[in-house]
Amino acid sequence: MTGQDRIQALAEHGVEIHAFPESWTALAADVLHGLSSTPKTLPPKWFYDARGSELFDEICDLPEYYPTRTEAALLADVGARIAAEVPAAEVIELGSGSSTKTPLLLDPLRDAGVLRRYVPVDVSAAAIQGAIPALTARYPGVEIDARICDFTTDLCDLPAPTGAPRIVAFLGSTIGNLQPVEVQAFLAQVRPLLGPHDALLLGTDLVKDVAVLEPAYDDAAGVTAAFNRNVLAVINRELQADFVLDAFDHDAAWNPVLERIEIRLRSVCDQVVRIRALGLEVTFQAGESILTEISRKFRRGGIERAYAQAGLGLRSWFQDPSAWYALSLASIRD
Ligand code: SAH
Ligand code: TRP
Repeated sequence: MTGQDRIQALAEHGVEIHAFPESWTALAADVLHGLSSTPKTLPPKWFYDARGSELFDEICDLPEYYPTRTEAALLADVGARIAAEVPAAEVIELGSGSSTKTPLLLDPLRDAGVLRRYVPVDVSAAAIQGAIPALTARYPGVEIDARICDFTTDLCDLPAPTGAPRIVAFLGSTIGNLQPVEVQAFLAQVRPLLGPHDALLLGTDLVKDVAVLEPAYDDAAGVTAAFNRNVLAVINRELQADFVLDAFDHDAAWNPVLERIEIRLRSVCDQVVRIRALGLEVTFQAGESILTEISRKFRRGGIERAYAQAGLGLRSWFQDPSAWYALSLASIRD
């Protein structure tokens, strides 16, 4: 039976659906497909329920997790230059999460008197709800139009360009969590959102020493491990599974060939996990892993090529003094 057939069968048998149906169906399909594959995988968007979004915010404050601090310092430095280059009336932010860094971009636009609308887009309703009070308080007179949707599939639902300058921001190096082919699909969806005077503002973590990279994804306090295991708690709750969280070790390793951190959950013993809502039993051998996330690290040339392939052109490149992190602006090419 394929994943789709099985979901169809479940629907016909009146299985109770939790969360909102689309998301439940998508989770069921992803879990069925991912845990039936060899090697086993799970897509990262399911990390981010309310608890996962909270844990991610804790990750951002960890001493080992340099990307947030580095991107924030860089944006503090160049935010006004970006605002001068693209005096955006509208900022659409994809994967906005708690929107903590966004004021570093929105403030200069507001101060220039141009900002009219901010559109945070995230799959996590909890993250969006958490972000809104601070945003409405900080930007009176600016329309806050939040969207809960999947940026890998639903970007076509976002408003087309109006002619007023717009920035589409994608921060946090979240683009590194996509495979190269997914990046191209993503950029192809972003392109129609951009008019001739608009720009994509992209945050990308850069290739660096493994001694810096690995601890960022395996901190001493164990917050990243808890975040990683949280996806199992989501599956337990939504699909009535019986994952024992402690029976999976957190593993983060740099792959120097693919230039990415690979994050896994590794079964500590031979075990069988039941996922009742799917009528599925998943067997794990001791040491067998689920790939839960990749975090690719970039070089300028690779980013320029990805833009070019999507009909975009790099117009500005900003990096921090240690060359750990880059922000770039890209626009459509005619
Ligand atoms: N931009 C923030 C958060 C980055 S974490 C920062 O820089 O700190 C990644 C965010 O993307 C999370 O809030 C998560 O809920 C969201 N996300 C992950 N996959 C997504 C998807 N497919 N569609 C929409 N949002 C997604
Ligand atoms: N976009 C973040 C990154 O690649 C996501 C992230 C940070 C993450 N830490 C993580 C994902 C740990 C899974 C596990 O840096």
